[in-house]
Amino acid sequence: MATQQRISIHGQWSNRLAFILAATGSAVGLGNIWKFPYITGMNGGGAFVLVYLLCILCIGLPLLMAETMLGRRGRQSPINTMAALTAEEGGSPIWAWVGWLGVLAGFLILSYYSVIAGWALAYVFRAASGMFTGLNAEGINTIFATFVSDPERLLAWHSIFMVMTMIVVARGVQAGLEKAVRYMMPSLFIILILLVMYASTTGYFEAGFDFMFTPDFSKLTWEGVLVAMGHAFFTLSLGMGAIMMYGSYLPNGVSIAKTSLVIVSADTTVALLAGMAIFPIVFAHGLEPASGAGLIFKTLPIAFGQMDAGVLIGTLFFVLLVFAAWSSSISLIEPAVAWLVENHGISRVSASVYLGVSSWFLGIASILSFNYWEHIKLHGRTIFDWLDHLTANIMLPLGGLLIALFAGWVVSVKSSYEEMDNGRRGYALWLFLLRIVTPVAVILIFLNVSGLLDWI
Ligand code: PFF
Repeated sequence: MATQQRISIHGQWSNRLAFILAATGSAVGLGNIWKFPYITGMNGGGAFVLVYLLCILCIGLPLLMAETMLGRRGRQSPINTMAALTAEEGGSPIWAWVGWLGVLAGFLILSYYSVIAGWALAYVFRAASGMFTGLNAEGINTIFATFVSDPERLLAWHSIFMVMTMIVVARGVQAGLEKAVRYMMPSLFIILILLVMYASTTGYFEAGFDFMFTPDFSKLTWEGVLVAMGHAFFTLSLGMGAIMMYGSYLPNGVSIAKTSLVIVSADTTVALLAGMAIFPIVFAHGLEPASGAGLIFKTLPIAFGQMDAGVLIGTLFFVLLVFAAWSSSISLIEPAVAWLVENHGISRVSASVYLGVSSWFLGIASILSFNYWEHIKLHGRTIFDWLDHLTANIMLPLGGLLIALFAGWVVSVKSSYEEMDNGRRGYALWLFLLRIVTPVAVILIFLNVSGLLDWI
């Protein structure tokens, strides 16, 4: 059978573990360690976490399997994979645009993701230099305010992070991505476990644990349910082709259901570990769990500045954040690089440089949103806010909805059954979740987002 022999021109993962590490590296990022704790804090804890976990299981898992399945069948960049599968399955050529939407989303996300990752990079050195030692909330706030008000400084760290991303992507699947994630992912787990162990000595571990795992539904709004659903989506890198791209490097014969389960468990474990490391520290130092997006940069350093071994723990924490962001950023740009290599015959190095530099350039707009252009707002949002909103709240759900519809309804049952190879029952459950549950849930997210768009 033709599809069984197909191999991506960009190479292949050497084994199942390499794919698991890479996809987990893509999924685990700023979303888990920076975003998950703060949205959990803002949405009251336990009940929000419970809904998030349900969404991961009912929406995230089937979609992750679908993207991997499509990628392995198409064996090309998401744009060309969608086009090839559409031709094969007899669908409308319009489906190929899903690939384009994803490439655009990845490019846009990378521009601001690199800026925030640059903050994390800068904070590695701030933590290591002992800058936070003995400071109170005000002092820490001043450090953060001074930092983000200096565009040249932000630009320097953004540039360094973008170069780090370009280097790994330029080296390619085997030499670059695979080698990078092989070391990044295990270190990530070790550092997180060390941090949780530290958190357990604060005397507030139980408080943190209760906050995260004792559901209080009176604290959860319908809006919070939708935020949980949206985050399940973002945290697994779904809806833009990153997982489809990594799936295209997956050797045949590897079980998609089993590997997806491992990836989802690893991603969820990291988010929960991050919460379990952060909340005890937050409570031990009387900090506010609902302090918003600045939770890590504005609040955590207070704890690092007050605790014994704070320099070491703080440095480790930000190193972990940079590693997590790094292995995610490479997956944001990989689909576009693969497409440029496939369609324009240029080298990986040139493709990475073109895309990295243009995304870096766009990132300057996000940098200026925190200082010179802080007051330039459209409907209450800065350029940075708009980029984040447009990609995370609109483009990813739209892409995911289309991918679910394509994999569930356009790809024939024969093709997907053969590719999934997970038994009759497992397959039937997957198909039901993908055809019905996922689209309905994504449409709900989308309706919510459009309801929030007061500019219509
Ligand atoms: N999943 C990443 C995170 O949680 O930080 C973000 C992300 C990476 C989203 C890659 C989308 C993507 F394609």
